Amino acid sequence: MEIVTFANIKGGIGKTTLSYNFGEYLAFHGNKVLFMDLDQQSSLSRNYKGITEDQKHSVEAIFNIYNFEKVEPKIWHVKKNIDIISGTSRLDKIQSQLVTYSNKYVILYQWLQRHYDDVVAKYDYMIIDCHPDLGIATSNAVVVSDAIFAPVKPEKYSFDSLKEFKDRLSSLKQEVVNIQTGESLIKAKTYFIGNAIRKVDGVSKAFTHMIESEMESAKKNNLDDNLWICKIPEWILFTVTASFSMPLCEMEKIARTLKKDLTQDQQNDMDFMSKRKYFKNQSKAKFEEVNNIFETLKKYA
Ligand SMILES: Nc1ncnc2c1ncn2[C@@H]1O[C@H](COP(=O)(O)OP(=O)(O)OP(=O)(O)O)[C@@H](O)[C@H]1O
Ligand SMILES: [Mg+2]
Repeated sequence: MEIVTFANIKGGIGKTTLSYNFGEYLAFHGNKVLFMDLDQQSSLSRNYKGITEDQKHSVEAIFNIYNFEKVEPKIWHVKKNIDIISGTSRLDKIQSQLVTYSNKYVILYQWLQRHYDDVVAKYDYMIIDCHPDLGIATSNAVVVSDAIFAPVKPEKYSFDSLKEFKDRLSSLKQEVVNIQTGESLIKAKTYFIGNAIRKVDGVSKAFTHMIESEMESAKKNNLDDNLWICKIPEWILFTVTASFSMPLCEMEKIARTLKKDLTQDQQNDMDFMSKRKYFKNQSKAKFEEVNNIFETLKKYA
């Protein structure tokens, strides 16, 4: 199982949108995916109906080490190839109780060790969405990850917060070590994703220029960590995916399905038919570009 965490200390930059669509893309192409929602806002979980109410069996069951009943999280099967361990609004409170716990950064690591057969061996990918911070829950995700994807939006101070994120990650690497060998337990490589880039605005232009020159210099120097791996445009489709709770790969499938191949129920559903009309109005090239974005992420996952 490959573990991918979407994290950054900045909010509203596309962590949930991209983790949701990346996981759905992988599942659409036949991979078994387990989502884990480590954000108390539970935005990722809310894309799947009716699973956020059961807080006791959410990620809380993993992180609440003072749960002496030994409650285990519920793994919800939400659609073909996709399971999820839901988020809880109590995650911030649980984290505050862990501050003085000496093994606080390896709770998820230890849980995965105990669940090799029913989790690690069962899925191709685990995709973790995080709260905008590098707190205890996000740090636990970093410790178990193979790759960290950090979206960055072209905003005036986005590089300051990115530097802060990188500095905190490297302190965490030094802090979380194997006590016998002194080696860091964190093996993940970090990849940056330029997200929601506008065609015509000065900040976006300077941002794109900076990413391109960093990409070039990384290539020249054969770097394989802290890389910029793709640039994603600002597209309404990405906003729509959140408001419809529908992944882009499904939109493309609906757009391509001929009317005669829709079920009678779908044809009678006005809401479905108007969404389909909107998806059909998107160019093939746009959907192809979307697929290229997720193929690129898969290469680094
Ligand atoms: N490439 C994009 N083009 C247009 N809108 C986008 C793009 N990526 C994300 N968005 C929009 O930006 C908003 C914030 O995205 P999202 O919720 O994924 O961010 P986040 O980093 O998870 O936020 P938080 O830190 O609060 O969890 C959403 O409305 C989303 O639809
Ligand atoms: Mg989010």
